[in-house]
Amino acid sequence: MNLYFFLINAIIVIKFIYAQGNISEECVVINKLLDKEQSANCCLYDGVICSNGHITKIFFNYIDHNYSFLPEFGNLTKLEYLHIDSLKLLGPIPPEIGNLSNLTFLQIKGERISGSIPPELGNLSNLEELSIVVSNITGTIPSSLGKLSKLKALHLNANKLSGPIPLELEKLSNLELLDLSVNKFNGSIPSELGKLSKLNSLEIDSNNMSGGIPPEFGNLKNLENLNLAENHLSNSIPPELGNLYNLKKLNLSHNSLTGSIPSELGNLSKLKTLSISYNNLTGSIPKEIKKLNIKFYFSNNPQLKTNKGYNSLIVVLIVGSVFIILLSVIIYLKVFRKNKKRTNNMNNNAPISTGNAFVNTFEDESILSEN
Ligand SMILES: *[C@@H]1O[C@H](CO)[C@@H](O)[C@H](O)[C@H]1NC(C)=O
Ligand SMILES: *[C@@H]1O[C@H](CO)[C@@H](O)[C@H](O)[C@H]1NC(C)=O
Ligand SMILES: *[C@@H]1O[C@H](CO)[C@@H](O)[C@H](O)[C@H]1NC(C)=O
Ligand SMILES: *[C@@H]1O[C@H](CO)[C@@H](O)[C@H](O)[C@H]1NC(C)=O
Ligand SMILES: *[C@@H]1O[C@H](CO)[C@@H](O)[C@H](O)[C@H]1NC(C)=O
Ligand SMILES: *[C@@H]1O[C@H](CO)[C@@H](O)[C@H](O)[C@H]1NC(C)=O
Ligand SMILES: *[C@@H]1O[C@H](CO)[C@@H](O)[C@H](O)[C@H]1NC(C)=O
Ligand SMILES: *[C@@H]1O[C@H](CO)[C@@H](O)[C@H](O)[C@H]1NC(C)=O
Ligand SMILES: *[C@@H]1O[C@H](CO)[C@@H](O)[C@H](O)[C@H]1NC(C)=O
Ligand SMILES: *[C@@H]1O[C@H](CO)[C@@H](O)[C@H](O)[C@H]1NC(C)=O
Ligand SMILES: *[C@@H]1O[C@H](CO)[C@@H](O)[C@H](O)[C@H]1NC(C)=O
Ligand SMILES: *[C@@H]1O[C@H](CO)[C@@H](O)[C@H](O)[C@H]1NC(C)=O
Repeated sequence: MNLYFFLINAIIVIKFIYAQGNISEECVVINKLLDKEQSANCCLYDGVICSNGHITKIFFNYIDHNYSFLPEFGNLTKLEYLHIDSLKLLGPIPPEIGNLSNLTFLQIKGERISGSIPPELGNLSNLEELSIVVSNITGTIPSSLGKLSKLKALHLNANKLSGPIPLELEKLSNLELLDLSVNKFNGSIPSELGKLSKLNSLEIDSNNMSGGIPPEFGNLKNLENLNLAENHLSNSIPPELGNLYNLKKLNLSHNSLTGSIPSELGNLSKLKTLSISYNNLTGSIPKEIKKLNIKFYFSNNPQLKTNKGYNSLIVVLIVGSVFIILLSVIIYLKVFRKNKKRTNNMNNNAPISTGNAFVNTFEDESILSEN
């Protein structure tokens, strides 16, 4: 009984604390969106977290009716975390989101979200992660995103974005992750991206990029994953990529790369996967690369000489097969000789007539022992 009394009091106290700030005002936005009574305390809902009288975190992935991003979201000035993953969210991202100066995480996913990326998002000076993915969003990347100096991760994959990759992204000096894959970006890859020295993963695959791979990418010493596959990249593979000594995965497949494969790639001692298939590379595979213990995909380069170039796996397979064949021959010879010797002995003791040699030998033996 006392416990229940205590709990009820505790809830009243907590509600009182929530009511301190402008919670009821802020909840109007959420209640409007969720079709709930205006005065309800939204802090009690799943996915709404309040602190010091303000809504600070929103996770919406459970809403089961169509809704749109209300401009009033821009009034939730203490919001730090906004995560929406929903097929029910319709329409554009309002520019007012750019007013949420405390926002550190903005993650939006939904195939029915349309419109373009508001340039006002460049005002979110505290943002550490911006993720707008798998949506129907079109247009270009606003150059104002270059102002997000605290940004560590920028995911814009699987949208319908187009145009060039803005040079201003070079200013995102804290960026560790850049994923622009599966869009319609065109033009050449800006060499300025080579200045993002903290980059760990860079993915621009499945776009319409042309021109060469910037040699400046050789400066990205922290890079572990580089994927430029499925574009229209031409020219040769810059030998500078051999300086990326932390690289684990390099994917340049499905482009129009020419020239020979630089032997410098053999310096990538941490490499696990290398794909250069579906290009127009020439020459032969450098021995420095054959030495690496990696998954290596090089098919569909019509002019690449691969006939003489056994990679290490094939060598291991051949040596292994030869060894097994030799071993089998030795065992066979030993057993055969033994049997022959034995049969010869038998023949000396008791000549055997026709029929299966083994069975006969056995029968003869039992007959002999009986005697
Ligand atoms: C509540 O909102 C008003 C204006 O909308 C503002 O002047 C006031 O400072 C806010 N109070 C708190 C505790 O944030
Ligand atoms: C939700 O929106 C989709 C796409 O606009 C539409 O096809 C569907 O009928 C809407 N559903 C309701 C219940 O309004
Ligand atoms: C809330 O947002 C709307 C539209 O963005 C604006 O007109 C209104 O003044 C805002 N209200 C407060 C209390 O800031
Ligand atoms: C919020 O943003 C909109 C559009 O970006 C702007 O017009 C408005 O003045 C801003 N409101 C506040 C309260 O900062
Ligand atoms: C929220 O933003 C204000 C003004 O931009 C800043 O003074 C405050 O420290 C921020 N709070 C947090 C938790 O980032
Ligand atoms: C995406 O947008 C196009 C036109 O802009 C529209 O035809 C299509 O239905 C949209 N897709 C979804 C999943 O809403
Ligand atoms: C927000 O961004 C827009 C467009 O990038 C800009 O015009 C506006 O001045 C910015 N507002 C603030 C308060 O920084
Ligand atoms: C990029 O695509 C647009 C629209 O399709 C086109 O106008 C522009 O010329 C293209 N740019 C390059 C460099 O190919
Ligand atoms: C890619 O660019 C070429 C021209 O450079 C153009 O013909 C093609 O339609 C573009 N593809 C896409 C998916 O934008
Ligand atoms: C390379 O990237 C393309 C496009 O994302 C993908 O389809 C392919 O599987 C990747 N290859 C490897 C070996 O990871
Ligand atoms: C990288 O490889 C090239 C050619 O294979 C070699 O000449 C060079 O010394 C190597 N560089 C480093 C830093 O190991
Ligand atoms: C590959 O290069 C050769 C000669 O440079 C050229 O004739 C051929 O058209 C190219 N093939 C492709 C698929 O780009």
